[in-house]
Amino acid sequence: MSEVTAGLPADFFWGVATSAYQIEGAHDEDGRTPSIWDTFARRPGAVANGENGDVACDHYHRMPADVALIASLGVDKYRFSVSWPRVQPGGRGPVNPKGIDFYSRLVDELLEQGVDPWLTLYHWDLPQELEDAGGWPHRDTAHRFAEYAGLVHDALGDRVPTWTTLNEPWCSAMLGYDTGRHAPGRRDFDEAMRAVHHLLLGHGLAVRELRSRGAGSSGITLNMGVHTPASDDPRDVDAARRADGLGTRIYLDPLVHGRYPEDVLADIAARGASIPVQPGDLEIISAPLDVLGVNYYTSHVLKAADDPAVPEVVSQGAPVTAMGWEIVPEGLTSLLVRLQQDYGVPMVITENGAAFDDLDVSDGYVADADRVEYLAAHISAVAAAVRDGADVRGYLAWSLMDNFEWGYGYAKRFGIVRVDYETQVRTVKQSGRWYRDLITGSRGTTARP
Ligand code: FCB
Repeated sequence: MSEVTAGLPADFFWGVATSAYQIEGAHDEDGRTPSIWDTFARRPGAVANGENGDVACDHYHRMPADVALIASLGVDKYRFSVSWPRVQPGGRGPVNPKGIDFYSRLVDELLEQGVDPWLTLYHWDLPQELEDAGGWPHRDTAHRFAEYAGLVHDALGDRVPTWTTLNEPWCSAMLGYDTGRHAPGRRDFDEAMRAVHHLLLGHGLAVRELRSRGAGSSGITLNMGVHTPASDDPRDVDAARRADGLGTRIYLDPLVHGRYPEDVLADIAARGASIPVQPGDLEIISAPLDVLGVNYYTSHVLKAADDPAVPEVVSQGAPVTAMGWEIVPEGLTSLLVRLQQDYGVPMVITENGAAFDDLDVSDGYVADADRVEYLAAHISAVAAAVRDGADVRGYLAWSLMDNFEWGYGYAKRFGIVRVDYETQVRTVKQSGRWYRDLITGSRGTTARP
């Protein structure tokens, strides 16, 4: 066992992750209708270089070869997301046979290659028609989501063991409806708070649908980090409390403890907004989680700003990735230990990784020592948390391959496999080879069943 993985249990699993809009392309094929990202990407200035996911990695047409690539990395699991407007165009009505067939073939192909499918139902691509009807600030969207979850389970439930309802509801609510940096690009704090609640309600209702159909493991994935005050000035301490409140506790307190945190509700009310809870909602939202997906990229140091409601992130002097995100692996250890203590749900790292420029490409070799270093430091940080008592069951690297990085378009490369967007040729990077060797090494000499 290498130093990087020291302390991880023998059955700890490894995988890679992607999401539908970021890799599939085929945006208008076989009955797929636009999602909010198709619409948003067409808005001038919304995405760098005016790029969009129309073609992306063309995974829709290259899926069998991509699955062979995934299997060649030696991973146990592949986390992908289903495009809602592909399987239920418009977000209402019956399933689109061609759309669901794509995922059925994907699941079969994975199983044939000995890779477990891990399915995320929603990675940000809301059918545009549902946004036109009000989007996540509108309560009915939660019911639409639960219906969609049931349709997907009816088709794939016999073969998919692990189900994640939502990916990073913080991004959907805050970037989508508060700052407007993500689709649908609205800017209204009250709508963002309504979105938070309806995302959580949609999760709870979807879990109910999944469980009533006998789903195996069901959970949710949140993006989280550690929030540290810049000083012990009470205003900075309050800034960190607020960031943690709106970043972590507003999701995990209702999900695990069945209530919204009082201090966060007070902050929200002070901004003239509210969480539209109806009787019974919190029971639905707090259905027990089989697994909590943790997406970790960085941690933040917070300072009080002129508007105390919107704390300022200040540099902690750490090196940064191509996203400008500070590299703080020790934050992942603290986060996991804290989540264990405060929430006690089994955890899996459902995303972790880094964008670097990957300038050193020659003769089919991509030298990305910076990414290897990032991954090694973060996997070590997970192992340290496990040694400190955190129940973490597996690690999924973000991402299998370079892809459409939302507002940054194709400029930011997170893959452990390089994609040449001109030719769609995939090249396993140095980091991909390193990851494969780490996985093989962590299994010792025992062959995978
Ligand atoms: C996460 C997203 C994922 C990817 C990474 C870099 O917030 O879930 O789609 O964009 O960041």
